[in-house]
Amino acid sequence: MAKDNKKEDLMEKVVSLCKRRGFVYPGSEIYGGMAGMYDFGPYGVELLNNIKSAWWKEHIRNRENYFGLDSAMFKDPRVWEASGHTSGFSDPLSECKKCNTRIRVDKELEKIGVRANEKMSEAELNTLFSENKINIKCPKCGAGDFTPVRAFNLLVKTNMGDFTGKGESPVYLPGEACQGIYLNFKNVIDTTRAKIPFGIAQIGKAFRNEISPRNFLFRTREMEQADTQYFVRPHENKEAYEKIKQDRLDWYIKMGIKPENLRFKQHENLVFYASDAWDIEYNFPSYGFDELEGIHDRTDYDLTQHMKYSGTDLNYTDPQTGEKYIPWILETSVGLGRMFLAFISEAYTEEKLDDETRIVLKFSRELAPIKIAVFPLLKNKPELVEKAREVYKMLKEEFRTEWDDNGNIGKRYRRQDEIGTPYCITFDFDSLEDKAVTVRERDSMAQERVKIDSLRDFFKNKFNT
Ligand code: GAP
Repeated sequence: MAKDNKKEDLMEKVVSLCKRRGFVYPGSEIYGGMAGMYDFGPYGVELLNNIKSAWWKEHIRNRENYFGLDSAMFKDPRVWEASGHTSGFSDPLSECKKCNTRIRVDKELEKIGVRANEKMSEAELNTLFSENKINIKCPKCGAGDFTPVRAFNLLVKTNMGDFTGKGESPVYLPGEACQGIYLNFKNVIDTTRAKIPFGIAQIGKAFRNEISPRNFLFRTREMEQADTQYFVRPHENKEAYEKIKQDRLDWYIKMGIKPENLRFKQHENLVFYASDAWDIEYNFPSYGFDELEGIHDRTDYDLTQHMKYSGTDLNYTDPQTGEKYIPWILETSVGLGRMFLAFISEAYTEEKLDDETRIVLKFSRELAPIKIAVFPLLKNKPELVEKAREVYKMLKEEFRTEWDDNGNIGKRYRRQDEIGTPYCITFDFDSLEDKAVTVRERDSMAQERVKIDSLRDFFKNKFNT
């Protein structure tokens, strides 16, 4: 892919702003950092929570036939045998003989225009790699001498509940969050009025021993996935699949992503559980269009496997006709980190103002981490501070509001612009007389005077609460 300098620059700017303004910190930073791990700071966690609740609202609150779930991370190890992850969930790994850098062979082949199939055996991958090795150089030291390819399983093993110290019966961290939905499919039907077609939605953690975590939050070893699984009658998948794909694309646009930065891409290489798979791709900074969300037609693969391995009947019985069948499943799955990166990149804006550049995160009002900031004009005037704090306290009960009295008003505006706060309120000397404050809107920078008495309704209207 041709490098786009402007976009590469944008990635650097986004990463730097995330650190500078308390959105994202490198994991275990004081120990030198840990590859593929990030911590979300005070504004990052607000943004993350807002993304989650917007997603939840879309799939649970706005729909009648979707049900929520939060399943335990640790599961019986047989779950991962049944799902196919202990045998089929691997990436092809090779190591540079000179500097021991590990490479993901399929990704290195892709860079030189050669495609490795997901279903290739280790031997087939070795043949393909040997044929093309001459054109592949170690990304770290530039040497071209590599170890044979081995299929490296991505599941993360733990010793949870194993007191032998021998590590003989590992319990795995979830390789994908959705397995908990299949395990509870019967429970949900038995305890709700769910009738096919219906969906189950869940946000849960997943862990993968990624060979080369990269691109900030794009490929990490610990992630959170927002999943929906929609259960349909066998062979009634096509129409529902198209609708689900379109609904997901429309949601991103509704949440503020420009349509030209989104596209669909069908998978040529299908992962072991899917009969059809499409990605929604986003035009990420620095590396361009890549997978944001996966939408998979999993047919009856998962429930059939779990029925076989657990011995539990997972057939659905139609309450009207008495017909029994294993439902087919349509899945949507997106990493919270990738959504976070997409939303923050999309929001990042630089504007020239006279001789300075204003950096502003133009988040939708729903996603903005802080909704309102309240400033006293001067922090050393107790009469202003006292009354301004009353305004702050009144608003913070209903809206995520921040108190800011540091530096001059201009500096406070810049700081709030950089974290994407839609409204700033200044309480000045006139406020003591006219019982009104100045409200400044982030994007237009327009200011208006609003009576303190009507502030709550003013913002209720703005934030649709
Ligand atoms: N349950 C299906 C599943 O896990 P996937 O395509 O492997 O499918 C779904 O993952 C989504 O999870 C991806 O589209 C991406 O948004 C996110 N994801 C996958 N691996 C990731 C990683 N290493 N780091 C961050 N996000 C990841």
